[in-house]
Amino acid sequence: MHSSPSGLAAAAPPLPCHVAIVMDGNGRWASGQGRERSAGHHSGLGPVRTVIEAAARHGIEALTLFAFSSENWSRPASEVAGLMNLFCDALDAELPMLQTNGVRLRFIGELSALEARLRARIDAATAATAANSRLRLQVAVSYGGRQDILAAARRVAARCERGELRSSELSAEEFAAGLALAGLPDPDLFIRTGGEQRISNFLLWNLAYAELYFTETLWPDFSAADFEIALQHFAGRQRRFGLTGTQVAS
Ligand code: IPE
Ligand code: IPE
Ligand code: MG
Repeated sequence: MHSSPSGLAAAAPPLPCHVAIVMDGNGRWASGQGRERSAGHHSGLGPVRTVIEAAARHGIEALTLFAFSSENWSRPASEVAGLMNLFCDALDAELPMLQTNGVRLRFIGELSALEARLRARIDAATAATAANSRLRLQVAVSYGGRQDILAAARRVAARCERGELRSSELSAEEFAAGLALAGLPDPDLFIRTGGEQRISNFLLWNLAYAELYFTETLWPDFSAADFEIALQHFAGRQRRFGLTGTQVAS
């Protein structure tokens, strides 16, 4: 609750509806402590819990977390295997936390590339949380923004081939209905930890007008206070969507 010096309750700052996070810096966090990269990935679970709970508490509608990119498959096989094991274990361990926070979980990405053991857990957790409605959580695994757009393009091309759609009549909304985030508002706040200022093939279509926030903090160190700071930065931005500042203010 915000209160002003006059004692009157101040208007709540604008909150994002949808936050997308590139959880980066696990490897450097571990190296900095003279530990294996896998230790960084394990320690990255705590902040995942933290941001889910904070988003649910704030009433943020949707949260999308980048956990493993299409390109991350090219990392050493041992690191990839460790990450897949971690995802399996985390799905088992965190299900009660998801239920407590009213989280509806979904995975986005090329899930057919995942081993059957992980896919089975994903399906079970998705089904178990399907009726929850407080926070919609998307975990992007084996996800690439270009691959996502390509899949949507193939979908409309197939409809054109079947004579169901004329290419000249394709709208942006109809195209976006074939993307992984169909049915969700576009992310309005993008957070990347770990100091790199790039998108790394995350939600290329959906981030068109996201406010970008970068922090040097490495993901395993990202705290509830850091999330609040990112929200404050968002609240201080003027979103213009191509208009002038005066137009937006009036
Ligand atoms: C992000 O941390 C996690 C994944 C990409 C799976 P990194 O593993 O990329 O950590 P850095 O960037 O090497 O520190
Ligand atoms: C982006 O991080 C992907 C995830 C956080 C899952 P990377 O560490 O893979 O990105 P680059 O290689 O630095 O661009
Ligand atoms: Mg990285």
